[in-house]
Amino acid sequence: MCPPEHFTVEYTINPWMDTTVAVDAAQALKQWESLRTTLVDLGHVVHVLDARPGLPDMVYSANGAFSVDGTVYGARFRYPQRADEAVAHQAFYDTAGAWRFVAPQHVNEGEGDFAYLPAAYGGIVLAGYGFRTDPAAHAEAQEVLGRPVISLRLVDPAFYHLDTALAALDDRHVTYYPEAFSEASQRVLAQLFPDAVLADRADAEAFGLNLVSDGRHVVLNTDAVDMGHKVRAAGYHPVHVDLSELKRGGGSVKCAVAELRPAQR
Ligand code: ARG
Repeated sequence: MCPPEHFTVEYTINPWMDTTVAVDAAQALKQWESLRTTLVDLGHVVHVLDARPGLPDMVYSANGAFSVDGTVYGARFRYPQRADEAVAHQAFYDTAGAWRFVAPQHVNEGEGDFAYLPAAYGGIVLAGYGFRTDPAAHAEAQEVLGRPVISLRLVDPAFYHLDTALAALDDRHVTYYPEAFSEASQRVLAQLFPDAVLADRADAEAFGLNLVSDGRHVVLNTDAVDMGHKVRAAGYHPVHVDLSELKRGGGSVKCAVAELRPAQR
């Protein structure tokens, strides 16, 4: 995670960003800290990246890379305003050791557009395209990570990253908002995940799909009340955190957390 110490909305690269409304920096930091302590209280180890001035979106650390089984496929941001974030993430993996970092040729925004399901079909990657990540990066990720990559086309600009429209609930189950995807991609998802928890537009707009799950606890935005009911009905334990300020940049819980998948032994 990376604290929103330099968080502002000073450019518009997704429909949620409105540069005419000031963000409450102190509130953003407080809410981010409550997400961090929630994860720690659930027993997770949280590493913190230093925020860098001039990178207001760096709080959305999910976009900085995508790791599977000790290999890290680096990010390459679509917009120049965020380009330098990739450098900070690479430095983290280089100094943390035990990671094989692979720099990308193609534009991709890390976990924003990639999700991993270790126990589905022996381990598959779901990958979004249409707004940020170049579909060529999907093939590149498959070569780097050695896992089948399933390409899914996003069609609604409000849900511009895969992680705004779909989330892994555990090692094999997902939840998603079908209409965020092309009809063909909806068919692919229905075929692969007949037992998925389906979300509706209101859930997605409340950033209810932008969640982090450890397979038991599902951490999600406070606004996403119905989504909380849906995951509870599916057997998970919802934990709500208020991230209203981060929503102004077009992100929530998942965007703020880069998950680390070290090598399996
Ligand atoms: N303002 C950021 C952008 O548009 C938000 C990124 C949200 N992150 C995410 N993982 N969906 O790039």
